[in-house]
Amino acid sequence: MTLDSSVRESDPAGTVPFSRMERRTFAIISHPDAGKTTLTESLLQAAGAVHEAGEVKARGDRRRARSDWMKIEQQRGISVTSSVMTFQRGDILFNLLDTPGHQDFSEDTYRTLTAVDCAIMVIDAAKGIEPQTRKLFEVCRLRNVPIVTFVNKVDREGLSPFALLDEIAEVLQLDVSPQNWPTGIGGLFHGLYDLRRSGLLVADRSDGVVPGRWIATESIEDPAIDTAIPVDAAESLREDGGLALASYPTFDLEAFRQGDLTPVIFGSALRGFGVEQLLDVLADDGPPPQPQPARPAPVDPGESRLTGFVFKVQANMDPNHRDRVAFVRICSGKLERGMKVTNTRIGKPMALHNPITFFARDRELAHGAVAGDIVGIPNHGTLRVGDTLTEKGDVTFTGLPDFAPEILRRVRLGDPLKVKQMRRGLSDLAEEGVIRLFKPALGSQWIVGVIGELQLDVLQTRLDQEYGVALEFEPSPYEVARWIKSDDPALLKKLMETHRSSMAEDQDEVPVLLMRNGWEFGRLQEEWPGITFSAVRERS
Ligand code: G4P
Repeated sequence: MTLDSSVRESDPAGTVPFSRMERRTFAIISHPDAGKTTLTESLLQAAGAVHEAGEVKARGDRRRARSDWMKIEQQRGISVTSSVMTFQRGDILFNLLDTPGHQDFSEDTYRTLTAVDCAIMVIDAAKGIEPQTRKLFEVCRLRNVPIVTFVNKVDREGLSPFALLDEIAEVLQLDVSPQNWPTGIGGLFHGLYDLRRSGLLVADRSDGVVPGRWIATESIEDPAIDTAIPVDAAESLREDGGLALASYPTFDLEAFRQGDLTPVIFGSALRGFGVEQLLDVLADDGPPPQPQPARPAPVDPGESRLTGFVFKVQANMDPNHRDRVAFVRICSGKLERGMKVTNTRIGKPMALHNPITFFARDRELAHGAVAGDIVGIPNHGTLRVGDTLTEKGDVTFTGLPDFAPEILRRVRLGDPLKVKQMRRGLSDLAEEGVIRLFKPALGSQWIVGVIGELQLDVLQTRLDQEYGVALEFEPSPYEVARWIKSDDPALLKKLMETHRSSMAEDQDEVPVLLMRNGWEFGRLQEEWPGITFSAVRERS
């Protein structure tokens, strides 16, 4: 995979300088198999950013299967370069952030979505809204992230466009505004009518189904349509397309930007239909970098000081170098190599000697990154998820939560001589956000918490491969963990003392109460009304 050479130069002569191009920072959300990998590839191809067909796809395939996931994760270099894909189209730089491909909902996905300004929701035309799509959509809604919907696989038999639109509107409680209309789905697919630009992209069905001629039209009634596609396809396009125009709201930029309306594009990622149009919508209407929630006030992308936050930490990307890279979303200012910033969590300055950008497979030294860009900062454990970096002033980005785990396990070590390595590995992975780690107030057996079973597999494999530690899990006596807080420090102290045997600290030394089951949790909530038992903890 290579990138347009003008993107790689920091400020190429003759074009809009890299640092002054507009940015669109987005992610693709979908249920597995809806076509996220294929669409990623198609977008990169449409923008001229990949030259070898099948590259992204090949990686996606390897990542998808559960057992293969481990293999791909061993090749850390590959998994990380697909975390961020930057490509240029015209005077716009697109930063596409990958969300993990596996089925378990993970915090990693949530955090990645805190770093984007917009999301593409891919729906399989034969399946409609599937569970994972819905979950991810809810995460976007929490943050009012605007959504562009791509209804994929119209070249295959599927549900009717009306049924799909109505389902999106009903299930997600969103206004839907179709931006194009297929002549039909599957065997009846002869082209896509562009409702924005008034024109028909004819499907050439002479050998497979590929994009053919583009016919500019006055309207959907234009007689040119009748000569381009079969008569019954033209009739159904007029009838259904006309009805769609009359029945669904027209595109409203403000409603879209507020997350109340989704423009819907029908297409086929595999065959290249609707992809250009998707890029057009992102370019024309997709939000530029947005103000980010922070204390004491949101940070505007137009501010001149450099600010950013860490939304992901990946350790040991290169097994030979035991490195760690913190992924930082730039929120304002301009990053220059060597500049000094402060990590506000610890109040200490650090110099950005080797910030990197992830241009496809290559890591390059970042220079001139601006709001909306993602840079990697190599470090030895000083940067954690949720950390704020700022050139000057007092600011802390908010809104990166930790979720209380749903599965708690005690860890047992195969080789007792490896306690040190185990503790280091567990601490590293807790800081990466792969697991939650609880150190009980009494006793020395640490407890790990995860949201999905897959995280336990990841933990076991990574400790083995990266730290040489064979780890077993044992049932824990606890099922529920909650962070505890109170406005009354004396009350909090009393609770902690009376329940000392159930108290623990998380990896950041914040007190957590471990409970045997939901019943005990309910009882404690009743008995201690002055205490907040929280399932979510903001990192910053
Ligand atoms: P994912 O990343 O969301 O999990 O999905 P992915 O892109 O891997 O696509 C899942 C399957 O759907 C793939 O088929 C892919 O080729 C197919 N697909 C994606 N987009 C389209 C489309 O527009 N039309 C049609 N007809 N199929 C599409 P597969 O059988 O799993 O893989 P392969 O053997 O085709 O490579």
